[in-house]
Formats: sequence, C-alpha cells, structure tokens
Amino acid sequence: MVQVPADRDLKLKTLRESPPSSLLDDPLEYLIAEHARQRMMCDVLDDISNSDEPDKELVGEVLNFLKEDFKRHVLDEEMGLLPALEHVGQTDARFRDVLARLRQQHDEHRTLVTEIISLLENLLSSAKDLVPDRKLSKMLQIFATVERDHLILENAIVLPIAKAELSSGTLVKLSRDMMARRSIEPEGEDNAE
Ligand SMILES: [Fe+2]
Ligand SMILES: [Fe+2]
Repeated sequence: MVQVPADRDLKLKTLRESPPSSLLDDPLEYLIAEHARQRMMCDVLDDISNSDEPDKELVGEVLNFLKEDFKRHVLDEEMGLLPALEHVGQTDARFRDVLARLRQQHDEHRTLVTEIISLLENLLSSAKDLVPDRKLSKMLQIFATVERDHLILENAIVLPIAKAELSSGTLVKLSRDMMARRSIEPEGEDNAE
C-alpha cells in the first residue's frame, strides 16, 4: 500500500516523539496524549497488516514503540493509575468490574504484544521480502482492534473518573513515578523538603 508522504511523516513523528516532558506535571493529560499516539500505532499496525510491501522504517518505529513507550505506558497504569483508583471500586461495583476488565485486557495484550514484537523482529531481519505472513497479519489486526476498544474504555470511563476522584496528592505521586520511569528529575527537586 502506498502511503501519502505527509501521512507517513506524521505517523513516523507520532511514534518517535513522546509528549513533552512538561506534560508529566499533569499525569492524566499525559496518559491521554499517549493514547492518541497509541491510536496512531493501531493505524500503522493495520497498514503493515494490509500491505504487500510494508514500509521498513515504519515497521522499525512501531517495533520500538511497542518495546519501549507502550510497555512503559502499561506500567504507568498498572503500577500507578489503577491502584490509585481502587478506592472508587470499593464503593462502586460496576467500576470495580471495569478495573478488573482493564487488568485482564493488559494481561491479554501483553501476551499478544510479546509475540508481535518477536514476529516483527523476524520480519525486519529476514533476508526475504518484507511481507508479513498470514499469522502476523492476523495478530496485528486482532491487536489493533482490541487496543482501540481498550483506549475507548480508558478515555471514556476511567480517565474522567480519575479526574473527578484523584486527590492532588495522588496526582503528584503519579507524576513523580511517571517521571522516574522516564529518568526525568522533577523540577526544583534539589530544593524540595
Ligand atoms: Fe492506556
Ligand atoms: Fe491500558
């Protein structure tokens, strides 16, 4: 499939560039910005799946994204956001179910992503033409579909509730932990405490 150059450039830029680190001061907005990048990742996975001649540079970038940014984002949620929302689940059974579903999806996606990473690495290192086989194409389609559903659940339900329920102290802790995962020092840390 032939990519329109501007479209291709935007996809490469989106996969390469993290949101500005200043946005980490607002951790929920940072997660929303990461979700926009993940939507673009799904489009690229569809492109690769549907192509007889995938763009090698895009395959490489989406591989890096899955190995680094995507994994770190899931850690931000599993170790930060979801535990911070447990107290809401204690008083709201439906929300408790939502949190359990998200965790289950993270587990399922982790398994899929591990296999996709391995297949994409094989594809890139293959001496043959860069053509995804049937198994890889199917897995890319499945992951793009389930990940888009996951993003809807997080953006439409979980993050609005987080905005309403999380205290400023909890948000500061989320922010600090997300900075630490990215080896970024909080500003003014030397003078703190
Ligand atoms: Fe997310
Ligand atoms: Fe998630």
